[in-house]
Amino acid sequence: MFNNIPKNVRDTMRDLERRDAMDRANGTPRLERLRQITPDTGRFIALWGASAPEGSMIEIGTSAGYSALWLAQACRLTGRTLTTFEILPEKALLARETFKRAGVGDVVTLVEADFLSHAQVFERIGFCFLDAEKDVYKECYDAVIPRLVPSGILVADNATSHFDDLAPMLEFALNDHRVDSMIATVGKGELVCRKR
Ligand SMILES: C[S@@+](CC[C@H](N)C(=O)[O-])C[C@H]1O[C@@H](n2cnc3c(N)ncnc32)[C@H](O)[C@@H]1O
Repeated sequence: MFNNIPKNVRDTMRDLERRDAMDRANGTPRLERLRQITPDTGRFIALWGASAPEGSMIEIGTSAGYSALWLAQACRLTGRTLTTFEILPEKALLARETFKRAGVGDVVTLVEADFLSHAQVFERIGFCFLDAEKDVYKECYDAVIPRLVPSGILVADNATSHFDDLAPMLEFALNDHRVDSMIATVGKGELVCRKR
């Protein structure tokens, strides 16, 4: 999966990594920044995505589509598709450009909307990557966990970088009897939950 990433996908990833690093360095306002996952987190979610049981593969928080490019590699390997949600029109526009340039339109569907108003569409989720605003994490968690199939996986970003903001949600997840969970010290900290 990682040894044969197509050149146009690799080039698009590299450009997004450069832009994200510039955003962080030059004081770009928070809502305009891409706020992407790290490359090692990309590998981490692609491995989990490729190993997840049958069911929908979804992402909450697309930004310009960097993490979705990693998940697209898992989709290619397993013959699945990804549905990714982005609430901001300007980010959705960037994501559309990303997916077109990287040639992943056949495996990635972008939904320009609030995930929380679409959660009910998914009855059987195999894998979910949660990377939205921190104040909606708990609501997203509450919407996703009941819809995960047995052995289904939820990965949530920023579990260590935003530990204080997310503490109540993390505490809840780590003590939730519906899942087995832990925080992996990859990138900005990844909460991983496996449905029992
Ligand atoms: C941290 S960025 C996502 C970065 C992306 N996952 C990546 O690594 O390339 C968070 C994104 O989530 C979007 N977002 C926040 N709340 C959302 C919601 N309820 N539904 C869909 N998207 C949301 C924001 O507009 C923002 O673009």
